[in-house]
Amino acid sequence: MDNFEFRNPTKLIFGKGQIEALEKEIPQYGKNVLVVYGGGSIKKNGLYDQVMEKLSAIEANVSELAGVEPNPRLTTVRKGVELVRENNVDFLLAVGGGSVIDCTKAIAAGAKYEGDVWDLITKKADVKDTLPFGTILTLAATGSEMNSGSVITNWETNEKYGWGSPLNFPKFSILDPVNTMTVPRDQTVYGIVDMMSHVLESYFHAATNTKLQERMAEAILLTVMDTAPKLLENLESYEHRETILYSGTMALNGILQMGARGDWATHNIEHAVSAVHDIPHAGGLAILFPNWMKHNIDATETKLKQLAVRVFGVDPTGKSDRDLALTAIDKISEFWTSLGAPTRLADYDIDDSKLDLMADRAMKRGPFGNFQTQQNEDVAKILQMSL
Ligand code: NZQ
Ligand code: ZN
Repeated sequence: MDNFEFRNPTKLIFGKGQIEALEKEIPQYGKNVLVVYGGGSIKKNGLYDQVMEKLSAIEANVSELAGVEPNPRLTTVRKGVELVRENNVDFLLAVGGGSVIDCTKAIAAGAKYEGDVWDLITKKADVKDTLPFGTILTLAATGSEMNSGSVITNWETNEKYGWGSPLNFPKFSILDPVNTMTVPRDQTVYGIVDMMSHVLESYFHAATNTKLQERMAEAILLTVMDTAPKLLENLESYEHRETILYSGTMALNGILQMGARGDWATHNIEHAVSAVHDIPHAGGLAILFPNWMKHNIDATETKLKQLAVRVFGVDPTGKSDRDLALTAIDKISEFWTSLGAPTRLADYDIDDSKLDLMADRAMKRGPFGNFQTQQNEDVAKILQMSL
């Protein structure tokens, strides 16, 4: 294993009715609360009213930032920073999916920084302080509810970057499976692909002797693959929503990532694709990940072979390592396709006309990939394979 330190300060408050905890948690941080949410799903399903009732019970002064976009934009983050200053906000409450939480993280850091928040996202300046914030998660996918990462898009320049700071963990996150029941089928599928991709990104690493990390990763994949088709049969199953919700958090809260640095090149390429074409993050991952695995097959073969046997139950007798590895890639693709995930960029009407721009955006911060370094020609090839 690589040497590591681990600290995750987010208080996870999981289960039915846990919204009650708001009344106890928020007053520790102040009275002036900015509630951040998306395009209206929380108004439709009643969660907005429940949150407002709790905030009124603790006599909070509430301001609101509505309309955070999927793939949250810098312009919205800036609006949030202004609202914080105008209303003297003490605490931010994100109510939504990864986009709302990521936007809130950027507002929390931007509000304590004198310059433009884009400096923090592009790492031109360090995060030195942040406002405290909590989350009520409504979509199982990103793990943002229990990690310190955030992904923000500058739509003017077609740049989408992940950034983070140890100061940017939520103080608490409320995870009630009931709040995820109204997630539509397509977003449910995207969430499942995203959490599986986080496990896979973590699985491809160069560290040695990571037996427990690998077994934990496989356990999450097996659990998600067992549950996902059942959940899609019954989107209102509390039991299956609960399993998927917990899996999404465990896939990217740092536990799987101890002692080994995962690859994350596919995420970087996907962020470049959605910076140019604004497609759902996990739709992009479902298309790109199998092609990253194939393009880097010499390096990925050993782990893929292990996945074929341990996760997909393939009998290795008489099969070469390469055959087993390619079978694992097919099995991953087949599983995602069986759920209804896209397989080609053409599914989003993306052709090669902006391929160079996408490759350029992926390369903006130089060669990347902790396990297999990707250069411009690798990105171009993977995008070509994905058309
Ligand atoms: O905006 P509303 O109306 O709330 O609707 C949202 C949105 O349209 C809807 N939704 C969410 N909860 C719902 C619901 N609809 C009905 N009922 C509910 N309970 O779902 C749509 C997508 O929401 P979004 O937050 O965009 O999805 P997700 O959680 O997948 O977040 C995607 C963003 O997170 C970034 C992605 O790049 C993308 O920008 N990521 C963040 C990571 C992190 N911070 O650690 C890691 C990830 O790899 C990822 O890159
Ligand atoms: Zn992701």
